[in-house]
Amino acid sequence: MAFGRIPRFSPSFSPREALLAARYLLRDGPDDEIVARWEQEFAEYIGARFAVMVPSARYGFYLLLKALGVGEGDEVIVPALTYFAIPAMVPLLGARPVFADVGLNSHVLDPEAFRAAITPRTKAVVPTHLFGTPCNMDAIRAIAREHGIQVIEDCAQSTGARYKGVRVGHLGDHAYYTFGLTKNITTLSGAMITTDDPKVAESVRTTIQAGGYTPKEKSVKEAVTGLAMWAATHPALYWATVHPAVVIGNKLGQDPIHERFGEAERRYDSLPASYLSQAKARGAQAAVGRRQLTRIEQLNGARMRNGKALDKALAHVDGLGVPCYPEGAEPIYMSFVVHHKDREGLAAELRKRGVDTTVGYMSAFADHPLFPEYKADCPNAAEAASQLLHLPVHPNLSRADLDHMVEAVRSACMALR
Ligand SMILES: Cc1ncc(COP(=O)(O)O)c(C=O)c1O
Repeated sequence: MAFGRIPRFSPSFSPREALLAARYLLRDGPDDEIVARWEQEFAEYIGARFAVMVPSARYGFYLLLKALGVGEGDEVIVPALTYFAIPAMVPLLGARPVFADVGLNSHVLDPEAFRAAITPRTKAVVPTHLFGTPCNMDAIRAIAREHGIQVIEDCAQSTGARYKGVRVGHLGDHAYYTFGLTKNITTLSGAMITTDDPKVAESVRTTIQAGGYTPKEKSVKEAVTGLAMWAATHPALYWATVHPAVVIGNKLGQDPIHERFGEAERRYDSLPASYLSQAKARGAQAAVGRRQLTRIEQLNGARMRNGKALDKALAHVDGLGVPCYPEGAEPIYMSFVVHHKDREGLAAELRKRGVDTTVGYMSAFADHPLFPEYKADCPNAAEAASQLLHLPVHPNLSRADLDHMVEAVRSACMALR
């Protein structure tokens, strides 16, 4: 990459996909046929019997819980390090989220913590394949089977990752995925659930079909945003657009990209009415998704090459904690997350060296003010949440970018000693 500036992310959406979206947004015909084709192709890719497109992963999760009859007095076990919207869905059904700890550097649900959190009221567990890392699914599935607990995989950050050769999403009973513009594959916006259970699929589909379509204007806005993101993170433009904004923002004490998403966290408990009234996907979303699916192995492959190179090069840097993975997990490196006691210092040192990082949006919710009545002792999640920093690992990094980044991390850690 030119000019030694490395963006924190770079979308998989490209001008070709923008043209494809435009074609479907401009035509008048019904959208259901192409959406059904995309759902079927996605189900085949995962190895599931049914796939249903939903407006967001959190709503998909909510509908899955509802289809399973989860309600008043029931408990759902979720990892303590996760995305705020997932535990926030559980109380909306009258049930209780129960937090279980994660592995410190694997960041995914610890099977023994899951076992310890089980009570006679436990109805479901949510192994979240966070940052693209599959959980230890042999252990989690065995414990769940022993206690008659439904396994709902959170694949929002891991579409296409494998565990012992099997794709995530086909390792439990049901699963959800999401395809926003910053994910490894995108449909502009929107998400998917998969299941082998015809009753569950039918229940989710019935609710979705009762809603209206995603408004065309929303899809147009998303396609334009996607194109703008593609252009702004392009090597020829990034140094002159986003990079100065991030540097100036940080000098003023704010990360402008992070702020936008922080706002969503403050509104954590809402299930927007738009999910209900605009539930059905557009042909444009399905057309982009179908094309992205033909590129997923290439996109994930590039992430995996970059992630493995970083694993190797950063394994022994003073003061730096590097990720580890459950045995049999084949991560897709949606994020490359390191730990440092002075992560703000590390981020600032890296910014000086032209590497943009983020603390991301994962919090340790067992002890979070958003969930005061669900406190639990989850020290690994708390430590990870206070120390983690995402390094760029997206498919558009060149070999020279990786070399530059490794050198920058090493010298930044030296400077912080
Ligand atoms: C791990 C995880 N789970 C769930 C979600 C929720 O996805 P959505 O925004 O589609 O509801 C996200 C969002 O990025 C996520 O990262």
